[in-house]
Amino acid sequence: MSALSAHVLDEIKELPAKYPQPRSAVMPALDLAQEELGHLTPEAMSEVAVALQLDPGYVEGVATFYSLFHLDPVGKHRFYVCTNLSCMLRGANEIVDHVKQSIGVTQPEQVSADGLFSYEEVECLGACEFAPMMRLDHKYHYDLTPEKINNVVAQLRKTSLLPTRGEVARSAGGEIQAPKKTRAVRQKKADA
Ligand code: FES
Repeated sequence: MSALSAHVLDEIKELPAKYPQPRSAVMPALDLAQEELGHLTPEAMSEVAVALQLDPGYVEGVATFYSLFHLDPVGKHRFYVCTNLSCMLRGANEIVDHVKQSIGVTQPEQVSADGLFSYEEVECLGACEFAPMMRLDHKYHYDLTPEKINNVVAQLRKTSLLPTRGEVARSAGGEIQAPKKTRAVRQKKADA
């Protein structure tokens, strides 16, 4: 049984045609795989390599080089808190402490007991004028305060109790589709 679903593998196979260099498809392909599984397993990387007709070592090299790819399980929602200079001067360390406290972890890479959250500290995300800031999943959050962190954590806890689109599709025996928003982001990247 394959690690990745048939529809994701089909999407991955279509990617090379969108790039001048077919090898450029490896990052969006890994992104798709990670989006489906939560992290990149050896089996998933191997299936990406086969789907893109690339050397497995090359695919694994890309996956291990970029910090946005995770080889171990991470929380369903991940905080990427910038702790570079501008953000640090405007309280990023306190924001990190508050994120840890809010999601119930003590260190990076630890996953919260409910499996919902994890965090990491990252270098400048290019939004210094809105410091302190972070990326949460695919969205940037600016001018952070403890209250803003509390609000997003509470909101995600609430929405995570609802079944996902994939779970609804699975229980109905239907085909699972990637979220429209993520597809749009990927399309934008591909068109860039
Ligand atoms: S230093 Fe945090 S976004 Fe630039």
